[in-house]
Amino acid sequence: MTTYEKELKALWQAHLKPRRFNAPTVISLFAGCGGSSLGYSAAGFREVLAVEYDATAVESFLANFPEVPIWGDDIGLLSVDEALSIAQLKRGELNLLDFSPPCQADSRAGNQDLNDPRSRLWKEATRLLEGMKPKHFVMEAVPGLISPKLRPKLDAQLETFHKCGYQVVWATLCAADFGVPQKRRRVIFHGVRNDLNIVPLLPSGHGRHRTVADAWAGLPPFQYRSTTKGQLATLVTQIKPGRTGRDTNLKGNYFSTKRLAWEKPAFTVCAQVSTYGGLFLHPDLDKGISVAEVARLQSFPDEFQICGRKWDERWQQIGNAVPPLLAKAIGEVVMRQCLDSVTADISSVDCTIAPDEQPKQFPLQSIDGRNNLRNTESGRYEIIDGNCLDHIPKLPDHSIAACITSPPYAMQRKKLYGGIHKSEYPAWTVRWMQASQSTHATPPSEQQLAA
Ligand SMILES: C[S@@+](CC[C@H](N)C(=O)[O-])C[C@H]1O[C@@H](n2cnc3c(N)ncnc32)[C@H](O)[C@@H]1O
Repeated sequence: MTTYEKELKALWQAHLKPRRFNAPTVISLFAGCGGSSLGYSAAGFREVLAVEYDATAVESFLANFPEVPIWGDDIGLLSVDEALSIAQLKRGELNLLDFSPPCQADSRAGNQDLNDPRSRLWKEATRLLEGMKPKHFVMEAVPGLISPKLRPKLDAQLETFHKCGYQVVWATLCAADFGVPQKRRRVIFHGVRNDLNIVPLLPSGHGRHRTVADAWAGLPPFQYRSTTKGQLATLVTQIKPGRTGRDTNLKGNYFSTKRLAWEKPAFTVCAQVSTYGGLFLHPDLDKGISVAEVARLQSFPDEFQICGRKWDERWQQIGNAVPPLLAKAIGEVVMRQCLDSVTADISSVDCTIAPDEQPKQFPLQSIDGRNNLRNTESGRYEIIDGNCLDHIPKLPDHSIAACITSPPYAMQRKKLYGGIHKSEYPAWTVRWMQASQSTHATPPSEQQLAA
């Protein structure tokens, strides 16, 4: 198995891992088949709502995210209250709002009309951003948005983000720098709510660029689809590997036909298709490429299901997606910042301990046959090398008020052990827990433990 195949397998496995109910949350607007959702899930986020109105994309999304509630209708019909209610969150609690509105209105390839009705979708996303007030947002857009013609639109959008109370960083990222075998450039915006006092970050790329040969290694052989007969069949032979119809005398539809080269990353995968396959020609054959091959070029694991009766419906969903490996890299940066902000919350309380406050250590008792529960002088329990989330459900309701884990993550019964609000539990608890760097809980009685 190649390193690329291993990386895609690991991505899928990370997505399948059961999520703790206190894991940072994400909502994906314009979720498509779930390219960005897969990346955020692999980075550790728990998706609590997806919004997508295309029935085939919804089908794909549900096949890969069976537990995520999906709003399968126009985004304009989703109110802020309804979104929060489905996600079971209060305003301000969501960790990350992910949105990649359809790009045709901003694409260099498409028209750049500021009054294009598709710009409505930006406004809908901003309405939900303002209403839900997530801690972070990530928006993906095509590079056309930073073209001089659309600069006023970009400035207006940035202004809106600032007015909504966000500090924003944006950059053009190339998917090839993040392990995706494709030269796909996208403008990524990361916004952080002002009250969090964090400077938003974006990931920096790494490693050598993967090639088409890397992308397709290990795929079963494909019965290649024939090109259009007649003129195109002869003309495509003029397109050399790594070149496009633009480099030949071909006119009309053939202009944007591209031939992949084994030793290079692919051109940008677009949603548009031609009769022989998404405008891409095979490196060696005068034929199109398969849906499985294009999915690999976008860093979808082979296990990811793309639904749709016709191959072009499936291709379109893949071409529309944020490459999961790119979304994962972005998600990991946002995740680190989410966890850091929890740490910052804790450390804003005085963390120093006076010598007479040091808790006495008591002998270890057993939980689940292991000696890992310690009673402390303070009357709190300390679970050493254990997962408090495994133990909390076994205890009667209300027996645990709050606990802090290592690495630090605070959970409270009041909030179903999700989220943190330092004013709601005593400062000493925070100090003590922070100092000992382990998991604590208010004491269950001996009978409760025995039960
Ligand atoms: C750029 S794609 C999003 C890709 C997705 N983030 C991914 O990574 O797979 C935009 C999506 O927005 C959806 N969409 C377009 N208009 C919409 C609307 N009015 N309401 C909800 N979804 C819409 C499209 O069907 C398309 O799947």
